[in-house]
Amino acid sequence: MVNPGKDQHMSPTSPPGTAQDTAGIHLAVGDRAPEQPRSAGAAMATENLHVYYGDFLAVRDVDLQFDDRRITALIGPSGCGKSTVLRCLNRMNDLVPGARVEGRVTYHGTDIYGPGVDEIEVRRRIGMVFQKPNPFPKSIYDNVAYGPRVTGAKDHLDDTVEQALRGAALWDEVKDKLKQNAYGLSGGQQQRLCIARAIATRPDVLLMDEPCSALDPIATSKIEDLMGELVQDFTIVIVTHNMQQAARVSHSTAFFTAQPDEHGDRVGTLVEFDRTLKIFEDPADKRTEDYISGKFG
Ligand SMILES: Nc1ncnc2c1ncn2[C@@H]1O[C@H](COP(=O)(O)OP(=O)(O)OP(=O)(O)O)[C@@H](O)[C@H]1O
Ligand SMILES: [Mg+2]
Repeated sequence: MVNPGKDQHMSPTSPPGTAQDTAGIHLAVGDRAPEQPRSAGAAMATENLHVYYGDFLAVRDVDLQFDDRRITALIGPSGCGKSTVLRCLNRMNDLVPGARVEGRVTYHGTDIYGPGVDEIEVRRRIGMVFQKPNPFPKSIYDNVAYGPRVTGAKDHLDDTVEQALRGAALWDEVKDKLKQNAYGLSGGQQQRLCIARAIATRPDVLLMDEPCSALDPIATSKIEDLMGELVQDFTIVIVTHNMQQAARVSHSTAFFTAQPDEHGDRVGTLVEFDRTLKIFEDPADKRTEDYISGKFG
């Protein structure tokens, strides 16, 4: 991998606003997505991305840009390919038997599927948090120290662990029980521990696949607040089924659906990608409008 380029173009920041869904709930668009004075370019992009599982074309022709130090939400009905696209962004699909990726996925301009690119380094720079909290059966400390130990960054490990736990807004709750097993934490604490584990190796991008779907509203709120903090330092891509969450936290939103092809197979397709405010208040495509207003999906 090469170092991130500094030659970044201007991109607008979403102004906060409100949208309304059919249930009459006001969606506070951009509520938690912080305003940022500094402009940013694309940290990552996909070009002409197609993903197959064996002969099955799961996702076709996806062009997306993920702005640096912004939150991008991927939304759409079940099976439209959100997780598939997310996994392409750090080569996790390499680990799925039969999965094949065509097109380009770039990280600061470098094709992460290009020759000579080390997929372990890709996953260190582009970390992932999964739907179900998945701590290792180890102590809280050892969970967070795992990545730095594997990557050989063993100096100042205590500081690294503390910083990551502080970054994940968990330090105050666990600082007196770092040697206890992570399984003793609540679900929301376990998810924040997984975020601490992901940021301990100092990635640049955080991919989150429905990180709150197993959590109660209070734990969800803490993770959303945390995302607002983390985006100061990280580029975040989040898959969510929660429209309010997408509207609250993200700067840009990509809406996918599964379209029948000429053989009747349902292929994941990117319908619309824009600033979150635009997607929720004035979508260009009727399918987006139907989905966000709850008429479909
Ligand atoms: N490992 C796999 N092997 C074969 N097909 C797969 C595999 N993973 C996903 N698919 C198929 O690819 C398509 C997209 O799946 P994906 O999991 O990306 O959808 P999703 O939008 O994340 O759905 P959900 O909202 O339910 O999580 C689906 O048709 C799914 O059945
Ligand atoms: Mg999924």
